[in-house]
Amino acid sequence: MKISLTKQSVLEIQADVVVVGISGTQSLEGAAAELDKATGGAIGRLIDSGEFTGKIFSSATLCPGENVVAPIVFLVGMEVSGTSPGPIRISSQVAGYAAKQLAKRQRRTVAFFLPTPSMPDAICGAMVGCTGQDLFRKEKILFPFEELIFSGCDQAQLEQGRILGQATNLTRHLVNLPAADLYPESFVTLVQEALEGLPLEFEVWDESKLQEEKCGAIIAVGQGSDRPPRLMMIHYRGATPSDPVLGLVGKGVTFDSGGLSLKPSDGMLDMKCDMTGAATVVGALQAIAGMKLPVNVSAYCGLAENMVSGNSFKLGDVIRTRSGVTVEVHNTDAEGRLVLADTLDVAVSQGVGNIIDFATLTGACMVALGRQVAGLMCNEQKWCGKVLKSADTAGDLAWQLPMFSLYNEQISSNVADIKNVGDGRWGGAITAAKFLERFVGDVPWVHVDIAGPSFADRASNWVDAGASGCFVRTLTVLAENFDSADADAPTV
Ligand code: BES
Ligand code: MN
Ligand code: ZN
Repeated sequence: MKISLTKQSVLEIQADVVVVGISGTQSLEGAAAELDKATGGAIGRLIDSGEFTGKIFSSATLCPGENVVAPIVFLVGMEVSGTSPGPIRISSQVAGYAAKQLAKRQRRTVAFFLPTPSMPDAICGAMVGCTGQDLFRKEKILFPFEELIFSGCDQAQLEQGRILGQATNLTRHLVNLPAADLYPESFVTLVQEALEGLPLEFEVWDESKLQEEKCGAIIAVGQGSDRPPRLMMIHYRGATPSDPVLGLVGKGVTFDSGGLSLKPSDGMLDMKCDMTGAATVVGALQAIAGMKLPVNVSAYCGLAENMVSGNSFKLGDVIRTRSGVTVEVHNTDAEGRLVLADTLDVAVSQGVGNIIDFATLTGACMVALGRQVAGLMCNEQKWCGKVLKSADTAGDLAWQLPMFSLYNEQISSNVADIKNVGDGRWGGAITAAKFLERFVGDVPWVHVDIAGPSFADRASNWVDAGASGCFVRTLTVLAENFDSADADAPTV
């Protein structure tokens, strides 16, 4: 998708469609006012007749006639009422909505005139909105535009938006690929291809290296599958070697059948999405490296397929994790925390200054917070505050859950150091986080449970169903603001 900017007016721009955002119907401003005048008050009449309300996710189409070069104008409302989702979320949702509506037909060029506080987010939103899940369909449903033109921004904002859109769509693409095509080895290959040309260093551990490194937990989860596990590391060094490294860790379970604690069909259907954490940190790294941010970042993707076979790991097994902590398996469907245990341990032993992990970890987190909000848990409040602030800036929805030490009782085991589930369902998102906490030492760490917002079974107004690409944007904001003070924050 080509992304370019224009300094031309809404009347002069040559495009198949011009999108014009209306931020208030009381008095028209900017491009909307110009267009209204050139069409002899057509927008005003649409508003007066009630045909166009100006509310977010409303639109009207206009053939503006001889005073306007573009043949079609698409008006989109930008007014929000009630609790506002914040200006960045509005920018990307309005642009995403317009793009998604217009992408239902093939269009070469679409020009956006949006009075928005954040152009990069509008650009990103439009790129995401016009890209759907048509990979395997003969009759496509969404047709990504050949060229997106934006007005009212500079070259730097345009480039930032393009990079964000590309990264978000990379994450979405990886998540949307079915497990037949995306498994640990192919994840590595596809990611290396997608990130080619960026100043990154890759390090991949195959099954024999995982054995050598004593990654007993990753191996246990992956051993029931014909697709061997991997640990993929990607290093970006945008700062000096002595600066701290931001460690991004992702759960990359390419398919979660539940293992011998087999999921019912309903619960298994979407489990190709169980590698969203890994895809999120990959997308973030593409954006961070693409923007040449002056920061050191390393991503760690723990990749395994959780399957059923004669060689599957079993209930009652005791796993020796890389860190030496032993884990009694009470449920093979609580596999994500096992994969993360070794992955976190590798990040810690490589000396990262701070850690943030992303994982589609628990259904319990969705019970607690719903389908659109991620759960945040940490061992260090200052670092957590920084993550929450970044999410707020980026328009990703997150809410912190408590980490009282009393939850530790739930994961004590009769035969090993810990067990891999809590007692019953209560506090399931937190007991999972308490498990992870055992593997991060005293490194400031935040765990983000994205089981809810990572994947949708229905399309929204601004993005197709399937992977959402959530938190890629948050990670770029976090990386922009990462400094050495974060690494030596006091531990609670
Ligand atoms: N990948 C699932 C969690 C999940 C559920 C993600 C729904 C996205 C949507 C995870 O591996 C899992 O199965 N968790 C179990 C944990 C339980 C066995 C303690 C769960 O949440 O039921
Ligand atoms: Mn599971
Ligand atoms: Zn899982």
